[in-house]
Amino acid sequence: MNLLVTGGAGFIGANFVHYWRAHHPENAITVLDALTYAGNRANLAGANGVHFVEGDIRDTALVESLLAEKTIDTIVHFAAESHVDRSIHGPAAFIDTNILGTMSLLTAARAQWLAGDGKPHRFHHVSTDEVYGSLGPTDPAFSETTPYAPNSPYSASKAASDHLVRAWHHTYGLQVTTSNCSNNYGPYQFPEKLIPLFLINALHGRSLPIYGDGMQIRDWLHVEDHCRGIEAVLHRGRVGETYNIGGGAELPNIAVIDTLCAAVDAAFAADPALATRFPDAPAAQGQPTETLKTWVKDRPGHDRRYAIDETRARTELGYVPARSFDQGFAATLRWYLDNEAWWRGVLDGSYRDWVETNYSGR
Ligand code: NAD
Ligand code: TYD
Repeated sequence: MNLLVTGGAGFIGANFVHYWRAHHPENAITVLDALTYAGNRANLAGANGVHFVEGDIRDTALVESLLAEKTIDTIVHFAAESHVDRSIHGPAAFIDTNILGTMSLLTAARAQWLAGDGKPHRFHHVSTDEVYGSLGPTDPAFSETTPYAPNSPYSASKAASDHLVRAWHHTYGLQVTTSNCSNNYGPYQFPEKLIPLFLINALHGRSLPIYGDGMQIRDWLHVEDHCRGIEAVLHRGRVGETYNIGGGAELPNIAVIDTLCAAVDAAFAADPALATRFPDAPAAQGQPTETLKTWVKDRPGHDRRYAIDETRARTELGYVPARSFDQGFAATLRWYLDNEAWWRGVLDGSYRDWVETNYSGR
């Protein structure tokens, strides 16, 4: 395969690039990323041999030229505006990037791949379980045939992009697959999402803002399991098909937050040096981290429950998540403790200077 990874400097895209370099070093990878606030070149440090292009997926001519010059046969499309809270405050960017950006990529792929000799190709679209809407406590989990019912500007824009991908397959014959996955967590996640935000707040002694009653349920998927799921779709997925990828870890937010608080307490108890590094953490003063829990106003339109029925991925692709939430969370906490420079760079904005710092004078 010769891959174009869009959004490869973001959280999941960067994890995917590292995963693919490690498992398929024979494949060439080009990353196309506009480096929005969520894009960070430092996420790709150590991913040797990856060709990085700073550019916008809405630039159809640029995408077409990359597909031709690099003889790309596989697009893995991560680039998106991805944070629900931001979509509530500013939906326009979500329409632009997630809908028009996806159409631009599809247009370029069609021009490049379907005009010639029709060689095998693949357009893999990375989407979310949020397109299916919200479940009640006893509703069956989302399957690939659950009707779409998106509730936030984010999920509505992702739903629209899923429909475009489907249409480009049915109308023009583009060889597509789509995966709809649950909430990811792991290394390089921008600290605006629940787990990294709460971890970093806990280390600084800042409050942990729990929306509403904290009983909203999400299925937590370690990002490396997600990468394995996409790999399974690329290798064994049927063209034109969609696959739900889950983590097998349906938990109310409060359970995730309690696990996080207890794990931070245990880490400080096991390693006295942490109290010196993070003196403002309650755990540094022998106080439980859970004293930071603060109940705040609920998110507007907050979806109550997401859950994934992963039967198709399991039976057709042989995909099952390798990590329990406890294992995945412990590894994630360790990563954030070991990579303080990464998240400090994100918090103080210096990650934007990464190219300048690392490539100036070369
Ligand atoms: P992210 O916000 O961390 O990264 C998005 C990346 O896309 C950034 O590097 C950004 O610079 C880039 N980008 C944004 N607009 C662009 C544009 N116009 N042109 C080129 N690049 C652009 O997102 P993420 O959490 O890594 O999510 C990746 C994909 O997975 C998204 O499509 C998202 O909808 C989907 N997804 C994420 C989750 C999750 O839990 N994070 C769950 C389900 C699905
Ligand atoms: P988030 O990480 O934003 O992912 P998503 O909205 O895509 O599921 O949020 C996960 C859950 O945590 C969601 O139910 C909202 C909740 N949440 C809080 O309670 N407080 C917070 O500060 C954040 C960011 C999220």
